[in-house]
Amino acid sequence: PASRALAGRHALVTSGPTHEPIDPVRYIANRSSGKQGHAIAAALAALGARVTLVSGPVAVPDPPGVTLRRVESAREMLAACEAALPADIAVMAAAVADWRVAEAATQKLKKAPGADAPTLTMALNPDILATLSRHARRPGLVIGFAAETERVVEHAVAKRQRKGCDWILANDVSGDVMGGDANRIHLVTADGVEDWPEMPKAAVAARLAERIATTLA
Ligand code: C5P
Repeated sequence: PASRALAGRHALVTSGPTHEPIDPVRYIANRSSGKQGHAIAAALAALGARVTLVSGPVAVPDPPGVTLRRVESAREMLAACEAALPADIAVMAAAVADWRVAEAATQKLKKAPGADAPTLTMALNPDILATLSRHARRPGLVIGFAAETERVVEHAVAKRQRKGCDWILANDVSGDVMGGDANRIHLVTADGVEDWPEMPKAAVAARLAERIATTLA
């Protein structure tokens, strides 16, 4: 029988990239499939949690049993997250663009013959993980990701402090993880570091959901 260990809990999950408009037809984005975030949303729902999944544009199928809020930009993602509060659990798996174009054009930019390429002025996007970690209605357990290629744990420990979240899932991406189906995770908490063996993204999601359920029990 399926465990209902997270019944009565509300989990907020972000997934996918954000798209930051340049003009109505062009955008800047991060590379992200949404596979890991969507798998986490599904795994939390499978343990009985009510799940709000805030996702940027992705090609992966909608996970079953979750409320899906589709967004494009980082600012829309933050607004959708804040609108979903209160939550018991927040897992921020989205690859949020750090910058947006300061003033996106309302009309398509024209390439006039002989004219120079446009110069884009960028503005800083909000950090959704850091904002939720310091929010007046902070979720009880806030979890972020760190994709690192070197000194993975060291960087994740620093990131956990900087962002103010409870856990960081440090993903060693020195291999070919991006867009692939397996992740190698080091779970960084206030108590230390757990090294997980390399496993498929669905297994990472299931193990994380179980770990969350044990912690909240
Ligand atoms: O700072 P960095 O992008 O490496 O941090 C990654 C973590 O922070 C991920 O959990 C990501 O979802 C989250 N993040 C965020 N908003 C941003 C940038 C990152 O929520 N603007």
